[in-house]
Amino acid sequence: MKNISKSFNGVTVLDSVNFSVKKGEVHALMGGNGAGKSTLMKTLTGVYQADGGEIFIDGKKVEINNMQDARDNYISMIFQEFSLIPTLTVAENIFLTRESKNSFGMLNDKEGIKKTRVLLEELEVDINPNDVVQDLGVGYWQMTEIAKALSQEAKILIMDEPSSSLTKKETEVLFSFIEKLKRKGISIIYISHRMDEIFQVCDRITILRDGKNAVTENIKDIGMETVVQHIVGAEMDKAFEWVERSYSTNAKPILKVNNLKSGSKVNGVSFTLQPGEILGFAGLMGSGRSEIARSIFGIDSIDSGEIEINGVKQNIKNPEDAVKAGLALIPEDRRMQGLVLEHSVKDNMILPILSKVKKGLFVDERKANELSNQLVNKLKIKTDNIFKTAGLLSGGNQQKIVLAKWLANDPEVLILDEPTIGVDIGAKTEILDIIRELADSGKAVIVISSELPELMAVSDRVIVLHEGKVVKELDRREINSEEELQHAIQGY
Ligand SMILES: Nc1ncnc2c1ncn2[C@@H]1O[C@H](COP(=O)(O)OP(=O)(O)OP(=O)(O)O)[C@@H](O)[C@H]1O
Ligand SMILES: [Mg+2]
Repeated sequence: MKNISKSFNGVTVLDSVNFSVKKGEVHALMGGNGAGKSTLMKTLTGVYQADGGEIFIDGKKVEINNMQDARDNYISMIFQEFSLIPTLTVAENIFLTRESKNSFGMLNDKEGIKKTRVLLEELEVDINPNDVVQDLGVGYWQMTEIAKALSQEAKILIMDEPSSSLTKKETEVLFSFIEKLKRKGISIIYISHRMDEIFQVCDRITILRDGKNAVTENIKDIGMETVVQHIVGAEMDKAFEWVERSYSTNAKPILKVNNLKSGSKVNGVSFTLQPGEILGFAGLMGSGRSEIARSIFGIDSIDSGEIEINGVKQNIKNPEDAVKAGLALIPEDRRMQGLVLEHSVKDNMILPILSKVKKGLFVDERKANELSNQLVNKLKIKTDNIFKTAGLLSGGNQQKIVLAKWLANDPEVLILDEPTIGVDIGAKTEILDIIRELADSGKAVIVISSELPELMAVSDRVIVLHEGKVVKELDRREINSEEELQHAIQGY
């Protein structure tokens, strides 16, 4: 890709960017939220058309004006925003638009199901091709999305944050698969905010900053600190350092969960949470971490067990009850549950705090604008202004909006499912700081995270979950290394 430029409404997003990938190479594409990574790749896959620049494949100039042109050139992309249809099965999603359909538009032959099964087996994913996508957790969506891209005969495969909701173990499977593809001569462009992954799996790296080339280098010739410097454009303090906090361990628990059961994924969970405490949930995909959060918050119904808040037994039947009881949940699949894509950044942010910015019957626009601008600055959200449509922001910046709106709501107990998913290294530390600030002010926080460095940086205590039960409880001071925690998670 040579001198690629792209603007939206007069705002330059890509400024003469150069990018190349060799045959059988894994090339990392990095940069802060809004740097232009997804946009660059969307010009390669024909989703967007560049305003200027040229694309060459095997030395020959090509025109990519639409997604069909990209397919004709054997370019395929795993999108950051999921492209699956939730009401269809895994197999139907994978072979959508390519297989013969019956008159109901459903997958006709057994062939697609068989092919899907082979693909999933190769990926070592435990999903039934006939499972309906919306019944599966986000980690499985991602695997389905990956299987879908792999099922297309690609020579260039673009992965836009493929691992963002995968745990270490699933990511390792993905990596061994990437190695296989590499040996077949397939070129992979790998977008990720996870530094360790880049050094593990990539051969070269290109970093974009504000829509411009910052650097391209062989991985073995660049250090992690240099990478961070190029991303944030300045030197940065240590990203994930544990800050030991103090809170009263013998105060009355703010949240008490006793023998909670819900569906097949939550099988008798008990734990307590003190005011001012940050409790980490660790566990593999399918261990029930997100499902516990969903049942406490009233999204999934509870079969048995009790939830107490400040000593009072609660009867939470839906999320409204949960909010009234002082709970907030920032879900894992934020694009689906946390954001109205058609609304502006500001409207999304003030939605849960409308009562705080009302002057009589009307919204105090000045106050609402002020608050929104404060949040935008605090979380370093990259947007032209607070009136921009949320759906037009980059993936990571959309994540930040959802965080911002719940943080502004000031709940008693905040549950965060993968709080820094897709967020760049510069903003991750800010988010962890905000979580600590909240806890310091006497709130209690549950953090669910598959990124262990993050979990270890922010938790006062960690519980390990397995098959919907607590199998281990660790004081943060007892955990000496990431390996130790990894071991505790995988020991079942
Ligand atoms: N269709 C669009 N209309 C207006 N602005 C857009 C559009 N698509 C992208 N942008 C803007 O282009 C910039 C780059 O976005 P892009 O999605 O490429 O970032 P990114 O590097 O992928 O970030 P992230 O790590 O958050 O995914 C952002 O500021 C975004 O708001
Ligand atoms: Mg992106």
